[in-house]
Amino acid sequence: MSSRAPGGESSVFLAACRRAHHDDEVPVWFMRQAGRSLPEYRAVRAGIGMLDSCRRPDLVAEITLQPVRRYGVDAAIFYSDIMVPLAVAGVGVDIVAGTGPVIAQPVRTAADLERIRPLDPDDLGFVEEAARLIVAELGDTPLIGFAGAPFTLASYLVEGGPSRDYARTKALMVGRPELWHDLCRRLADVSAAFLAAQVAGGARAVQLFDSWAGALAVADYVRYVQPHSAAVLHRVRRLGVPAIHFGVGTGELLVPMAAAGADVIGVDWRVQLAEASARVGPSYAVQGNLDPALLGAPWPVLADRVTAVLRSGAESPGHVFNLGHGVPPDADPDVLGRIVELVHAEGAAIRRE
Ligand code: CP3
Repeated sequence: MSSRAPGGESSVFLAACRRAHHDDEVPVWFMRQAGRSLPEYRAVRAGIGMLDSCRRPDLVAEITLQPVRRYGVDAAIFYSDIMVPLAVAGVGVDIVAGTGPVIAQPVRTAADLERIRPLDPDDLGFVEEAARLIVAELGDTPLIGFAGAPFTLASYLVEGGPSRDYARTKALMVGRPELWHDLCRRLADVSAAFLAAQVAGGARAVQLFDSWAGALAVADYVRYVQPHSAAVLHRVRRLGVPAIHFGVGTGELLVPMAAAGADVIGVDWRVQLAEASARVGPSYAVQGNLDPALLGAPWPVLADRVTAVLRSGAESPGHVFNLGHGVPPDADPDVLGRIVELVHAEGAAIRRE
């Protein structure tokens, strides 16, 4: 599947994460590559709730492998959700199609924190088992494990569901900092346990999703959020796998997000990769940043954008091609397939220019 990169790394994705791919093939995968855009996903999920599907290792393995088979992407991402370990920890949560996570009793007081129980390694045995099943089928293609970062998890818990302005979350953060830090410490433990279970099952890289951190001012990010994400990434470092740190609208936060302990900084579509790379410096690889809203554009226009992302990414010591956020449910899978072919056909030559 993947060509060999210098240094004996058999995965071009892992080589890029470690900034060791030089002029080798550019790896590509897509956030939310598994999911509703795939008819084979809709078929296996029929009649099964999202969170129920995540508890079944056979289904998790099948759904994780679907986009790898279809597209020949350079990495698989574990099929689950950022809310799964919180549900295991005792939080009443449902995932409502078209909306996202909805929390039965939002977290607003010290007493509410007691409903987030610390996880034992045994609690996530189903996660480790699913990762093992996936890795047994993947061959050289690496599995990426993931978790939600403390801020993004906290935003759902405090708001009770998706939010536009995160007003309650921010009010709690600045108004009750002790409660906020207590909450985030617990969430960092949950995230780290979820990542550790996936790595124990064979995941060879992880991505920490702080999808909504871009709502924060830089100073608030550094003071209230970065230490908790750093705590998660610190524990990942001890597991010996590279970490990608991603958020939407985080152009102003790239430097502190990288400094939290990432190997790869995830970039949405608002900042070009060369600029992102200049901001974080040569110690980090970059991942992103094709605008998912452009997937419906005519192919020649979209192909030019793919090439532009490759050119900009070539300025970084490591480039993982991806979208700037997840695959939308109405994306045409054939278009994603063409993007994979184009990145594989042109990426290496563009890096050598
Ligand atoms: O392919 C993959 O990327 C792996 C699977 C994955 C899912 N969720 C599956 C899923 C991953 C990595 C996630 C992470 C996740 N979940 C994030 C961070 C990534 C991001 O997009 O920023 C966030 C914020 C969530 C919370 C969440 N869960 C949302 C916002 C939604 C979408 C709600 C909707 O219906 O529009 C979900 C549900 C969800 N997670 C689905 C999938 C495949 C759709 C559920 C369905 O099929 O009904």
